Amino acid sequence: MGLRILVTEPIPGNATSYLRSKGFDVIEGHRNQFNSEDKLIEGLTDVDALLSMLSNPVSRRVLEACPTLKIVANYAVGYNNIDIEAAAELGIRVANTPDVLSEATADIALLLLLATARKVLEAEKELRSGLFDGWHPKGFLGFDLYGKTAGIIGMGRIGRAIAKRLHGFSVNITYHNRSRLSEEIESETNATYYSNPDTMLGECDFVFLSCPLTPQTRHIIDEKRLSLLPPNCIIINTGRGPLIDEASLAKALHQGRIAGAGLDVFEHEPEIHPDLLSAPNTVLLPHIGSATHETREAMGMMAARAIEAVLNKEDIRDFANIVV
Ligand code: GLV
Ligand code: GLV
Repeated sequence: MGLRILVTEPIPGNATSYLRSKGFDVIEGHRNQFNSEDKLIEGLTDVDALLSMLSNPVSRRVLEACPTLKIVANYAVGYNNIDIEAAAELGIRVANTPDVLSEATADIALLLLLATARKVLEAEKELRSGLFDGWHPKGFLGFDLYGKTAGIIGMGRIGRAIAKRLHGFSVNITYHNRSRLSEEIESETNATYYSNPDTMLGECDFVFLSCPLTPQTRHIIDEKRLSLLPPNCIIINTGRGPLIDEASLAKALHQGRIAGAGLDVFEHEPEIHPDLLSAPNTVLLPHIGSATHETREAMGMMAARAIEAVLNKEDIRDFANIVV
């Protein structure tokens, strides 16, 4: 029997056919088939490699139940759905798809800021409802980006791609990160470091969340930090939903304690907090940060190459996306 790879649901582009062309036996699941531990365990019987979605819970229980598994390649940069520690203990490799999705995700972050700051969805909806009655001196007033200050939490590749765009809009950039960037990268990104996020947040017109989800960053924006934000502040999340205490965010928006939110990710996907759905000045997207043809092709091939390398016992030292 050839080496078997489970791709948990159909992905766009050439990754699956590439793996088949290399002689692997590729099993393809259907949409959302493997979003539970039990289904994964069942599907991974006699499987050598898993190409997983971020909705697949690759827990310790799953990893321990699948003795033939050699690598899990997540079709995402974030891998909070995988128990990395358990994988390392069991000698199972884990790969992700960094870099290739940074530009697409940063585009969505800026889109969310512009759409929220300029009330794009409300304005467009009014026009489509036939209510446009000509240029209006008071209609749909938003906020300038020019000359404002943004605070980026998480200055990895995505955070830096956001900073590059913001610089083009003449926005001042501050950031908080687990560790300070080198002087060279700091000056390249025109960004000022704050070791204490609380001090930074009090000065921000726009806040961007682009850090990984870990036990340390869960609810990094909570009720207390929301109360530090100026009332004209807009918050953008393209990282992971649980970075924000969603109930507290919804309350702050309804009470007008901040000016708006643009969210591509949610605390309990695919469920959306009902108070967010009804919140004013809120743009909500269905987790499409990396959803472009070019980016998804690159993500698929990056995952496929990591799987090929591990299954063929290639030298993996050059694979920066193999994280354990
Ligand atoms: C998407 O959210 C990713 O982590 O790639
Ligand atoms: C940044 O947050 C990244 O890992 O791309």
